[in-house]
Amino acid sequence: TGPELAEAGRLLAAATRPVVFTGAGMSAESGVPTFRDARTGLWQRYDPAELATPAAFRADPALVWGWYEGRRHGVRRAEPNAGHRAVAAIQARLPETVVITQNVDDLHERGGAAAPVRLHGSLFAPRCAACDHPAPLPDDAPEPPAGRLDPPACARCAAPVRPGVVWFGEALPEAALAAAVEAASRCDLLLTVGTSALVHPAAEVPLVAARLGAPVVQVNPVETPLDAVCAVNLRGPAGEVLPALVRAAWPADVGR
Ligand code: APR
Repeated sequence: TGPELAEAGRLLAAATRPVVFTGAGMSAESGVPTFRDARTGLWQRYDPAELATPAAFRADPALVWGWYEGRRHGVRRAEPNAGHRAVAAIQARLPETVVITQNVDDLHERGGAAAPVRLHGSLFAPRCAACDHPAPLPDDAPEPPAGRLDPPACARCAAPVRPGVVWFGEALPEAALAAAVEAASRCDLLLTVGTSALVHPAAEVPLVAARLGAPVVQVNPVETPLDAVCAVNLRGPAGEVLPALVRAAWPADVGR
């Protein structure tokens, strides 16, 4: 991706207020499964209608809580990859960078980036399903052996605790969505990394930037609906492409 990488590097070097918009592909090279990738996608093994909905949790709290605890333990074992560190390098170079993520892992922060705008919540913020009281993380909890695990009871009202993620059919956190749209409205570059751009309203964020004339650069090994609005398409894995993009933008920084 010689000429495309050079062009993307030029766009990044010229930016002052980039948005980095990320999806599950950002964490794929850390060993965290994506949702819709054929070979590894979580949804190949589990049906979202079964697990990622309020009805599923009401019907079988232990199945849903166990699945998310299994994912949380997986994330705890994972390490940020070179892509996460490259995003932190962009933020260090351009302090007005806003990272907006659909991911519910904590790998952006562990990779050195400032806390991202979280459109779909976090595996690390469980709360009461009834009264929203934040619940302590059962950090010493054993990984669910067979995937089923009874959720803890809320310390305040004794109702079951739920994962702090946004389920299908639920509204996104208003403040996060507003912050994301605001950042996308004022950015001078939108870098979209590792998302299939299929799930709305999150998938609107890159389109907000594109409509207002900000160049969109995509990092994804395969085609997505965002191909149509990209100024540059970098076909490859985030863990390789993002470090190369940072080097292309700021060659003098190499090794610092
Ligand atoms: N580097 C970059 N992109 C990658 C990599 C990689 N190493 N590996 C896979 N990808 C791409 C895939 O080609 C795909 O386009 O990452 C994308 C992952 O898409 P999804 O699995 O659909 O994940 P995402 O777009 O984040 O899903 C959005 O859907 O299920 C809901 O709430 C969940 O936040 C999630 C939302």
